[in-house]
Amino acid sequence: SSYYGNNRGCNKEKLILNFQLKFNGHVNSMLKLAELLCLYNLHVTMLLSDFTHRRLLLHANAQSHFAHYPGFRFVTMPDGLPEDHPRAGERILEILLSLKETGRPEFRRLMESTDRLSDGSARRPVTCVIMDGVLSFSIPVIEEMGIPYIYFRTVSACSFWAYFCIQEIIDAGEVPLKGKDEDKLTYWKKEEMDFMVSSVPGMEGFLRRRDLPGFLRVNDVNDPGFQSIKIETRKSTQARALILNTFEDLEGPVLDQIRKHIPNLYSVGPLHSHLKARLSAITSESSRASGSFWEEDRSCVTWLDSQPAKSVIYVSFGSVTLLTRNELLEFWYGLVNSGQRFLWVMRPDSIIGNDGESQIPLELEEGTKERGYLVGWAPQEEVLAHPAVCAFFTHSGWNSTLESIVVEMPMICWPYFADQAINSRFVSEVWKLGLDMKDSCDRMIIEKMVRDIMVMRRDEFLQRTYHMANLARKAISEGGSSYTNLDRLIEFLRAMIV
Ligand code: UDX
Repeated sequence: SSYYGNNRGCNKEKLILNFQLKFNGHVNSMLKLAELLCLYNLHVTMLLSDFTHRRLLLHANAQSHFAHYPGFRFVTMPDGLPEDHPRAGERILEILLSLKETGRPEFRRLMESTDRLSDGSARRPVTCVIMDGVLSFSIPVIEEMGIPYIYFRTVSACSFWAYFCIQEIIDAGEVPLKGKDEDKLTYWKKEEMDFMVSSVPGMEGFLRRRDLPGFLRVNDVNDPGFQSIKIETRKSTQARALILNTFEDLEGPVLDQIRKHIPNLYSVGPLHSHLKARLSAITSESSRASGSFWEEDRSCVTWLDSQPAKSVIYVSFGSVTLLTRNELLEFWYGLVNSGQRFLWVMRPDSIIGNDGESQIPLELEEGTKERGYLVGWAPQEEVLAHPAVCAFFTHSGWNSTLESIVVEMPMICWPYFADQAINSRFVSEVWKLGLDMKDSCDRMIIEKMVRDIMVMRRDEFLQRTYHMANLARKAISEGGSSYTNLDRLIEFLRAMIV
């Protein structure tokens, strides 16, 4: 039962790279892009780390999903980190540093391999590499072999552009930051963070230091993570093209800025709904989830079924966010005290220092039982589209943001790190689709924002979310910007195969 069961189109292989362990968002969007390329009959090999591959197959049955595409296969290599490394929170950057040190020989071996495939067929020559744009350790090998490569950055255009301007930000003296607030160890001084940034073209007037992508919160520009992001992003200009999971009506002005440096740019998002639309045009089957790392607890859908329409706020902070016990309690009090219904995704590995002590304070038990429901991992797209859900408390991961936009869902943003800090600023100040709670975690603020988004200011946000969702739908419909860009991208890829 394959959507396309033959070798029409091209007889060479594309190789997609992705090592973004535990970032469910990166793997998800890479898989969606891979699936779209398969729909166009391109052969796709997806390279994952052993770790990601195991998680994906264990929980998502991705292999059977991709069995629909005879031209698709997975290959794996180690990420060089010990098995018990947390691969979460801020330590996620260690994956990149590890690959830089150990990944190249392994990658070369894979690329040069002449072994037959498991079904006995000969390997197809690799004609193009599409890679997550932070993996430049592999570029020397690709260049030596004379293979063209394309970058796919799975983050928003606004965060990509801020990363791209890091040198300008340093030259303007807007980073590094000075002085941490001693009382709040994790946060920088308020005056320092509220300072307006003027060195990112197109974002003057609304971008503050606190809105810059989290990796730019450094007091030393020699910080290894900071340096690595700075160097990697600038390398994007050497790729043949750049693919972004966004759409012109959402990030047009920023995309225009990027095009001045990288003219061959394809905005093809939102990928998850773009894929759905393309699939529904050729098959009655809809796209099944293919990229979850955890088992989805579907009992929350049953719970939602029994709730009144538009009465529940969905709370989820994505795949890598960690909460301290104190933050957990602030959220808990804030949600319960708001008097609103909530569905809360609490990943089992997401609470720092969880020592088995009872997590629910006694006085919150009743309110939680009455109005709340907790799961370890939810079928998010389905939850967001459920008639009972009317708002999303999110960490502003890029996939979560796009998934929310498509279903007209107002957001409260609590960014954790990286691109999320700038995404949330765009959500609140530029697109006006919700509220930004960054750099605070206080039960009173939470309670107020939940009431605002669900009741007090609901109509104001709904007008905006309705408008933006329409633009997203337009982008992926025939003749729309993302639809046309995907066709152009396919033409571009095919032209490389001579
Ligand atoms: C994030 C951001 O994507 C990215 O912008 C950043 O650079 C790295 O961290 P992640 O935490 O995975 O990654 O967030 P997000 O991009 O929002 O992706 C999460 C994905 O998991 C979404 O597709 C969402 O639908 C899915 N999800 C989340 C579930 O299926 N169930 C859940 O319970 C929670």
